[in-house]
Amino acid sequence: MEDKIKNIQQDYKEKIDQAKSLKELDGIFLELFGKNGKLDQLPKEFKNLSPDKLRVVSPLFNQIKQELEKAIQRKREEVKEEIYKSLENEKFVRQPGRLQAKKRQGHLHPTTQLLNETIELFSKLGFERFDAPHIDTDEYNFELLNIPEGHPARDLWDTLYIDSEKYGIQPGKLLLRTHTSNGQIRAMRQLKPPMRVMIFDRCFRYENLDARHEHTLEQFEIVYIDKGVSMANLQYLSEYFFQGILGKDIKARLRPKYYPFVEPGAGVDGLCIFCKGKGCNVCGGTGWLELAGAGMIHPQVLKNGGIDPNEYSGIAWGVGPERMAMLKYGVEDIRLFKSGDLKFLEKY
Ligand code: DAH
Repeated sequence: MEDKIKNIQQDYKEKIDQAKSLKELDGIFLELFGKNGKLDQLPKEFKNLSPDKLRVVSPLFNQIKQELEKAIQRKREEVKEEIYKSLENEKFVRQPGRLQAKKRQGHLHPTTQLLNETIELFSKLGFERFDAPHIDTDEYNFELLNIPEGHPARDLWDTLYIDSEKYGIQPGKLLLRTHTSNGQIRAMRQLKPPMRVMIFDRCFRYENLDARHEHTLEQFEIVYIDKGVSMANLQYLSEYFFQGILGKDIKARLRPKYYPFVEPGAGVDGLCIFCKGKGCNVCGGTGWLELAGAGMIHPQVLKNGGIDPNEYSGIAWGVGPERMAMLKYGVEDIRLFKSGDLKFLEKY
């Protein structure tokens, strides 16, 4: 038994001396002192020894056990010391920590991206931003745009009215703007012609929600008033916009359409981006997609804005950035845009 203990002492002293890393030392420690380790198991054999032998073996065992434990401890310190020394001459390079590396990079919402592209296109032509309120009066949203109370054209906009009595305003006179056209009269009254403005941002409607209708929607609108402005400008600007957003081969077509604040009014079609005019499922076989509404500003609307229709003429033109984004990015359901669904947003 004494030999056995001494052999362990010899073997392991050497192993400890030669160890070069903390990991190696941990391994040695476990081999000796771990569960089923060499020194852990040895006392089990002591029961067969005579009391005399035991009196010799027992202190020897304890002494060697302590010796090896201390040797491992000493060697650990030595190895650490060497690691520190070797690091002293290292130049540290900063690397991003784990948290930083995991930080997610966001990006602009697809509608905002499209809106920004649109703004950039029209800015190049000298159009300036003009803001109008989201909560507005019946007067600016409807009446001054040739849509008096009780007029059937009001059915074109399912409106969300505000419980205005508590603010001392007659019921039915305060609403969430249904379109960016609510900025037209304000722009005319504040800026004098010649004027080129862009009005954009959120509008609100009391809609039956489906894949093409949302209660909160974006609109982008331009108002261009000067001497001699005509439908030709409308045709040019429509095509300029479609080609800038959807591609060089997208032509524009004006089709007669009724809007109370323009005369003549037009539905603005773009050549179908999927079949390029041949006719497909998306365009219902016509080869064209209705993308915008527009027209020559009605003389009465110009007058309401303080502009003489005999001197000036103007065009107004409006588009839905979400509808454009649906086409451009191939999105099938308008409700996805405001769903807050990251899986959807991360695609764009
Ligand atoms: N305001 C219209 C809508 O919400 C869109 C529109 C049509 C805007 C004709 C215009 C226009 O400026 O001239 O449906």
